[in-house]
Formats: sequence, C-alpha cells, structure tokens
Amino acid sequence: MTVPIVATAIGFVSALTFDSVLAQAGTLSVTVGHAITTFLGLLLVVVGFSPFTRGLKAILKLFRLAAGPREAIGNLLAYGFLLVGAFVYLHWMGIDLTSLTVFASVVGLGIGLGLQKLVNNVFSGLLLLLERPVQVGHFVELEGVKGVVERISVRFTVLRTLDNQRILIPNSELTEKRLVNHDYGDRRCRLRLPVLVAPEVKPARVSEALLAAARQEPDVLRTPRPEIFLEEIAARHLKFVLSVWVADGEQLYRTSSNLNFLITEALDQFQIARPAQEMHVTLRRSPAAAPESLEYLSDLLHRLDVFSGCGQVQLSRLIELGTTREWPEGATILLRGEPGTSMYLILRGSVEVLSADESMALATLEHGQFFGEMALLLGTPRTATIRAKEACELFVIHEEDLQDLLKRWPGFEERISQALKRRESELRQLGQMPELPENRSLVQQFREHLRAWLAPA
Ligand code: CMP
Repeated sequence: MTVPIVATAIGFVSALTFDSVLAQAGTLSVTVGHAITTFLGLLLVVVGFSPFTRGLKAILKLFRLAAGPREAIGNLLAYGFLLVGAFVYLHWMGIDLTSLTVFASVVGLGIGLGLQKLVNNVFSGLLLLLERPVQVGHFVELEGVKGVVERISVRFTVLRTLDNQRILIPNSELTEKRLVNHDYGDRRCRLRLPVLVAPEVKPARVSEALLAAARQEPDVLRTPRPEIFLEEIAARHLKFVLSVWVADGEQLYRTSSNLNFLITEALDQFQIARPAQEMHVTLRRSPAAAPESLEYLSDLLHRLDVFSGCGQVQLSRLIELGTTREWPEGATILLRGEPGTSMYLILRGSVEVLSADESMALATLEHGQFFGEMALLLGTPRTATIRAKEACELFVIHEEDLQDLLKRWPGFEERISQALKRRESELRQLGQMPELPENRSLVQQFREHLRAWLAPA
C-alpha cells in the first residue's frame, strides 16, 4: 500500500521544476521558485536580522556616533531595510502594490486597536535613544523601583535592580511616568537619615556626634558638607536629620546602613540618651545566643588583638562576608608548608597545633582563639599543621574579605602591624620566629605582602 504512495510522491516531486505552479489565485500564481525563495527569505530574516542590526550599529560606531543616536539610527535603518525588502519581495511575487492600500488600511485599524501599545513602545524607545533622557549606566528610580539601566532596546528597557534582578520596562512607561534619574548630569545623591534622641539632650552635642559619624564613612562627600537639621521638638523626643551627599547613588543602600551603624556608635560614645520608648526595646545579649549571631561573633572578634580597634561597621562587614564551617574530630584543617588564604576563629570545640614531625602538640587552641593568621597576613607557607582535637566549628575569614577591609579602612593596617609586633616578641621568646626573606620582621613582611595585595591587577 505504502509503496505506490511513495512512488507517486517521488514521481510528482521529480516532475516539479522551478517554474511549476503550486497554487493559483486569480492572476497570482505561486511557483516552486516562489515557495523556496519565501522560505529561505523568512529564514534569513529570523536568523540574520539581529546580527545585521548589530553590524549596522558597528558600522555607525566607525563614524564616532554616540551610543544613543547609534542605537536609534541603527534600529531605524535595519527596520527600513526590512520594509524595502518586503516591498521588493511583494513586487517579485507579482502582487500589485496598489492593491495593498486595502491591506494598509486594515493594518492601520489593527494598529488603532491592538498594536497601539507596541507602536507606542517603539516610538518611545526611539525617542529615548535620540533624546537620551536616560542612558545605559544611569541610576534611575521608577515608581519606587531603583536600578541601573543596562540596555535600551526599541521596545523595552532593561533595569538591573539593587538586588541584581532584571526588570523589563516597556519604553512607553519611561516616557509617560515620573522617572527619577539620579545620573541626570550628576551621579551624586543626597541621603537623609532621621535620628531620635531623648528631649533633655543638648542639640549641639547631637550635632557633634552625628557629624563625627558622617566623617567616618568614606562614601560620604566632604563637599557639599554634611548638615544637621533639628526637625521636630516633641514631648518625648527630639528629631534630628543628618543630611549628607553620597558620591554614587547606586551605593545609597549600603552607605545608609553603614551610617546607621556609625550613628549608633557615636550616640553611645557621646553618651546621648535615646527616647524613653526606644529604651524598652534595647536588645540584651541572651546567654543562649546562637554562636553565629552577629553580636556574638563581633564580641569574639573584638576580643582579638588584631580586630580590637575595629568599629561595629567594619566587624559587621567582615562577619557578613565570612563563612562558618564544621570539622570532625581528628580532621586536618591546615597542613604545614601549604600556602594559606584564610584564617580561623574557633566558635566550638578545640584544635591542636602540631610539631613539624606531627609527633606532638605544641599548643591547644579553644573557643574564642584563632589561628592561620601568619600565612594569610605574611604571604608565607603555613608554619604548622592544625588538627581538630574534637569536632569543631570555625568562623573562616577569607583573604579577599580582609583585603576589602584593608582597602576601606586604612587604619586597620596599623592595627594589624601593632598586633604583629607583639606576636613577634612572643615568637622570639619561644624560639619559633619563622624565617623570612632578607631577615624581615613580621611587620615588614606584612607590609611587603600588603603592597602586592593592594597593587592594581
Ligand atoms: P599559619 O602559619 O597561617 O598556619 C598555622 C597556624 O598555627 C599559624 O598560622 C598560627 O596561627 C598557629 N601557630 C603556629 N605555631 C603556634 C604556636 N606555637 N602556638 C599557637 N599557635 C601557633
């Protein structure tokens, strides 16, 4: 049964030529040639339109056109070519273009009804690209959503939010709605932080504390200068507003958090009382606080020589970036002679520092003590093998996070150097001073290592 069908099909196909007519409608006849060319043409448009548009934009770039006009002209040219191509195709097919006036009015009606939104978006996109009220890289805010413009295409704009989500916004919304562009001429941004204090506090003292906090945050600009406003005098509180300028609006969220930490510290330091109702909610350290809680970890880190001078902001950042890991009893945590890129704070359990031949324990370190700092700070191989004496939980501080801290707070380098000086005299007494190139001291070696760390890649 199937054999005659296949044979007939083969016979039919082999009888076809390029000019064989497949269908006839009035004066219009569709040949094999038309069908093949139509198929190949559509394929070419689907596959090639995007690269073709990109190619046109690359050519326009050679003419040193700015990004906005380049996008707009590139897109217009590409769609123009597409339209001309469509007309040439229709003419070649033998379709009378005057008969398309009827079709055009139908399309016009379609646009009036369903395609109106699409056309609106496309024209808005072209306007955005030509007028450039927003550009790629601008930090903008649309109806409460903040983000950086990543791409402006003909139909929509891609916004990267502060949470690193991508939002596709139809272009018409950008031209019709109220858009805040933090980068329109100036990337700086004002930040206003309200602060409530007890009514009996002297306002001058609060100003002093808030300005001291603002001075400590590196992202706050010196000019325009930070300002303090006393916004409200109420029975139970005074409301101050710290107003500062931030260099980069995109960092607003982090800078505002850093400042809030610094303000809290400054208020404590200047012994400024908070309003009575706030005092009831002051957090107290619970004895059962989870070991990994922020307060618990910053307490432990604060007790260490190296970190004792760090403020709450610096420590919180370190804790935020570090990780907590567990090791079973007997596990080797560090191996003598290996390179080291992290240091460890013991949260639970204990570890042993082993002698060079690993036959005996030189020291046992427990909860609240740390190890692994030598290789990390000096860039030397690990000086000893460390083994878990019992199952333990360690807080791991990574090299890049310490580098980040050193870059942001230059005072930290001095703090580490002081701690290393003390450590060196201890090591010399124990006869355990590691051999360093050119007989350098620990501090010299640390500064040498730091130079390599902080050098631009
Ligand atoms: P590091 O050399 O990076 O790796 C091994 C760690 O063991 C070392 O840093 C110190 O933190 C620690 N360590 C080495 N010797 C002693 C010791 N005698 N007492 C206490 N800790 C030590």
